[in-house]
Amino acid sequence: MTPELELANRTALPDPLRVLIKEFPREQWKTNPNYSQLIAFWLDRHLMFRRLMGQLNDDLEQVMDRNMDPDNYKRSLSRFGGMLINQLHGHHQIEDAQYFPVMAKLDKRVSHGFDLLDSDHHAMDGLLAGLAGGANDVLQFDPGKKAKFKDRLGDLHGILDSFGTMLDRHLIDEEELVVPVLLKYDPEQLR
Ligand SMILES: [Fe+2]
Ligand SMILES: [Fe+2]
Repeated sequence: MTPELELANRTALPDPLRVLIKEFPREQWKTNPNYSQLIAFWLDRHLMFRRLMGQLNDDLEQVMDRNMDPDNYKRSLSRFGGMLINQLHGHHQIEDAQYFPVMAKLDKRVSHGFDLLDSDHHAMDGLLAGLAGGANDVLQFDPGKKAKFKDRLGDLHGILDSFGTMLDRHLIDEEELVVPVLLKYDPEQLR
């Protein structure tokens, strides 16, 4: 894969993979007769990931501004951070094992897009491990040590920022490939 298509560098799907999103623009998805429960459910999972990111960012701002007690913050971080990481892992596994192999066969013009999404998932494995590490450094912070709690929070802030940017890129590009393919071909295996 060329470097400009990697998740960290991409700013949109490349033009050859945009044929179907041009035919099925996002504003018209919901009124398409092939808009299925599966599409609605799957987009809803993405919305949940976006909301969890929003929660993690808001909480971090609150604790950095001293508007949230560190113990409350840790409880929330453990709960919502754990949820994001676990749910994303499970979501990627289902996409790679069940969704993408079916979708990749439906339209030759965009089939290599599913390899792109698969490589995004591999990139995100590393990012998720980094996020877990940054969160654990905050959760296991020992006040007796020299390092400052706010430095740990600052590190996590940086990790969350870049994680959020790449998660967002992945979700948008994935939606622009997957939903048009499902609307156009309405495959029996994925109803
Ligand atoms: Fe994905
Ligand atoms: Fe997804």
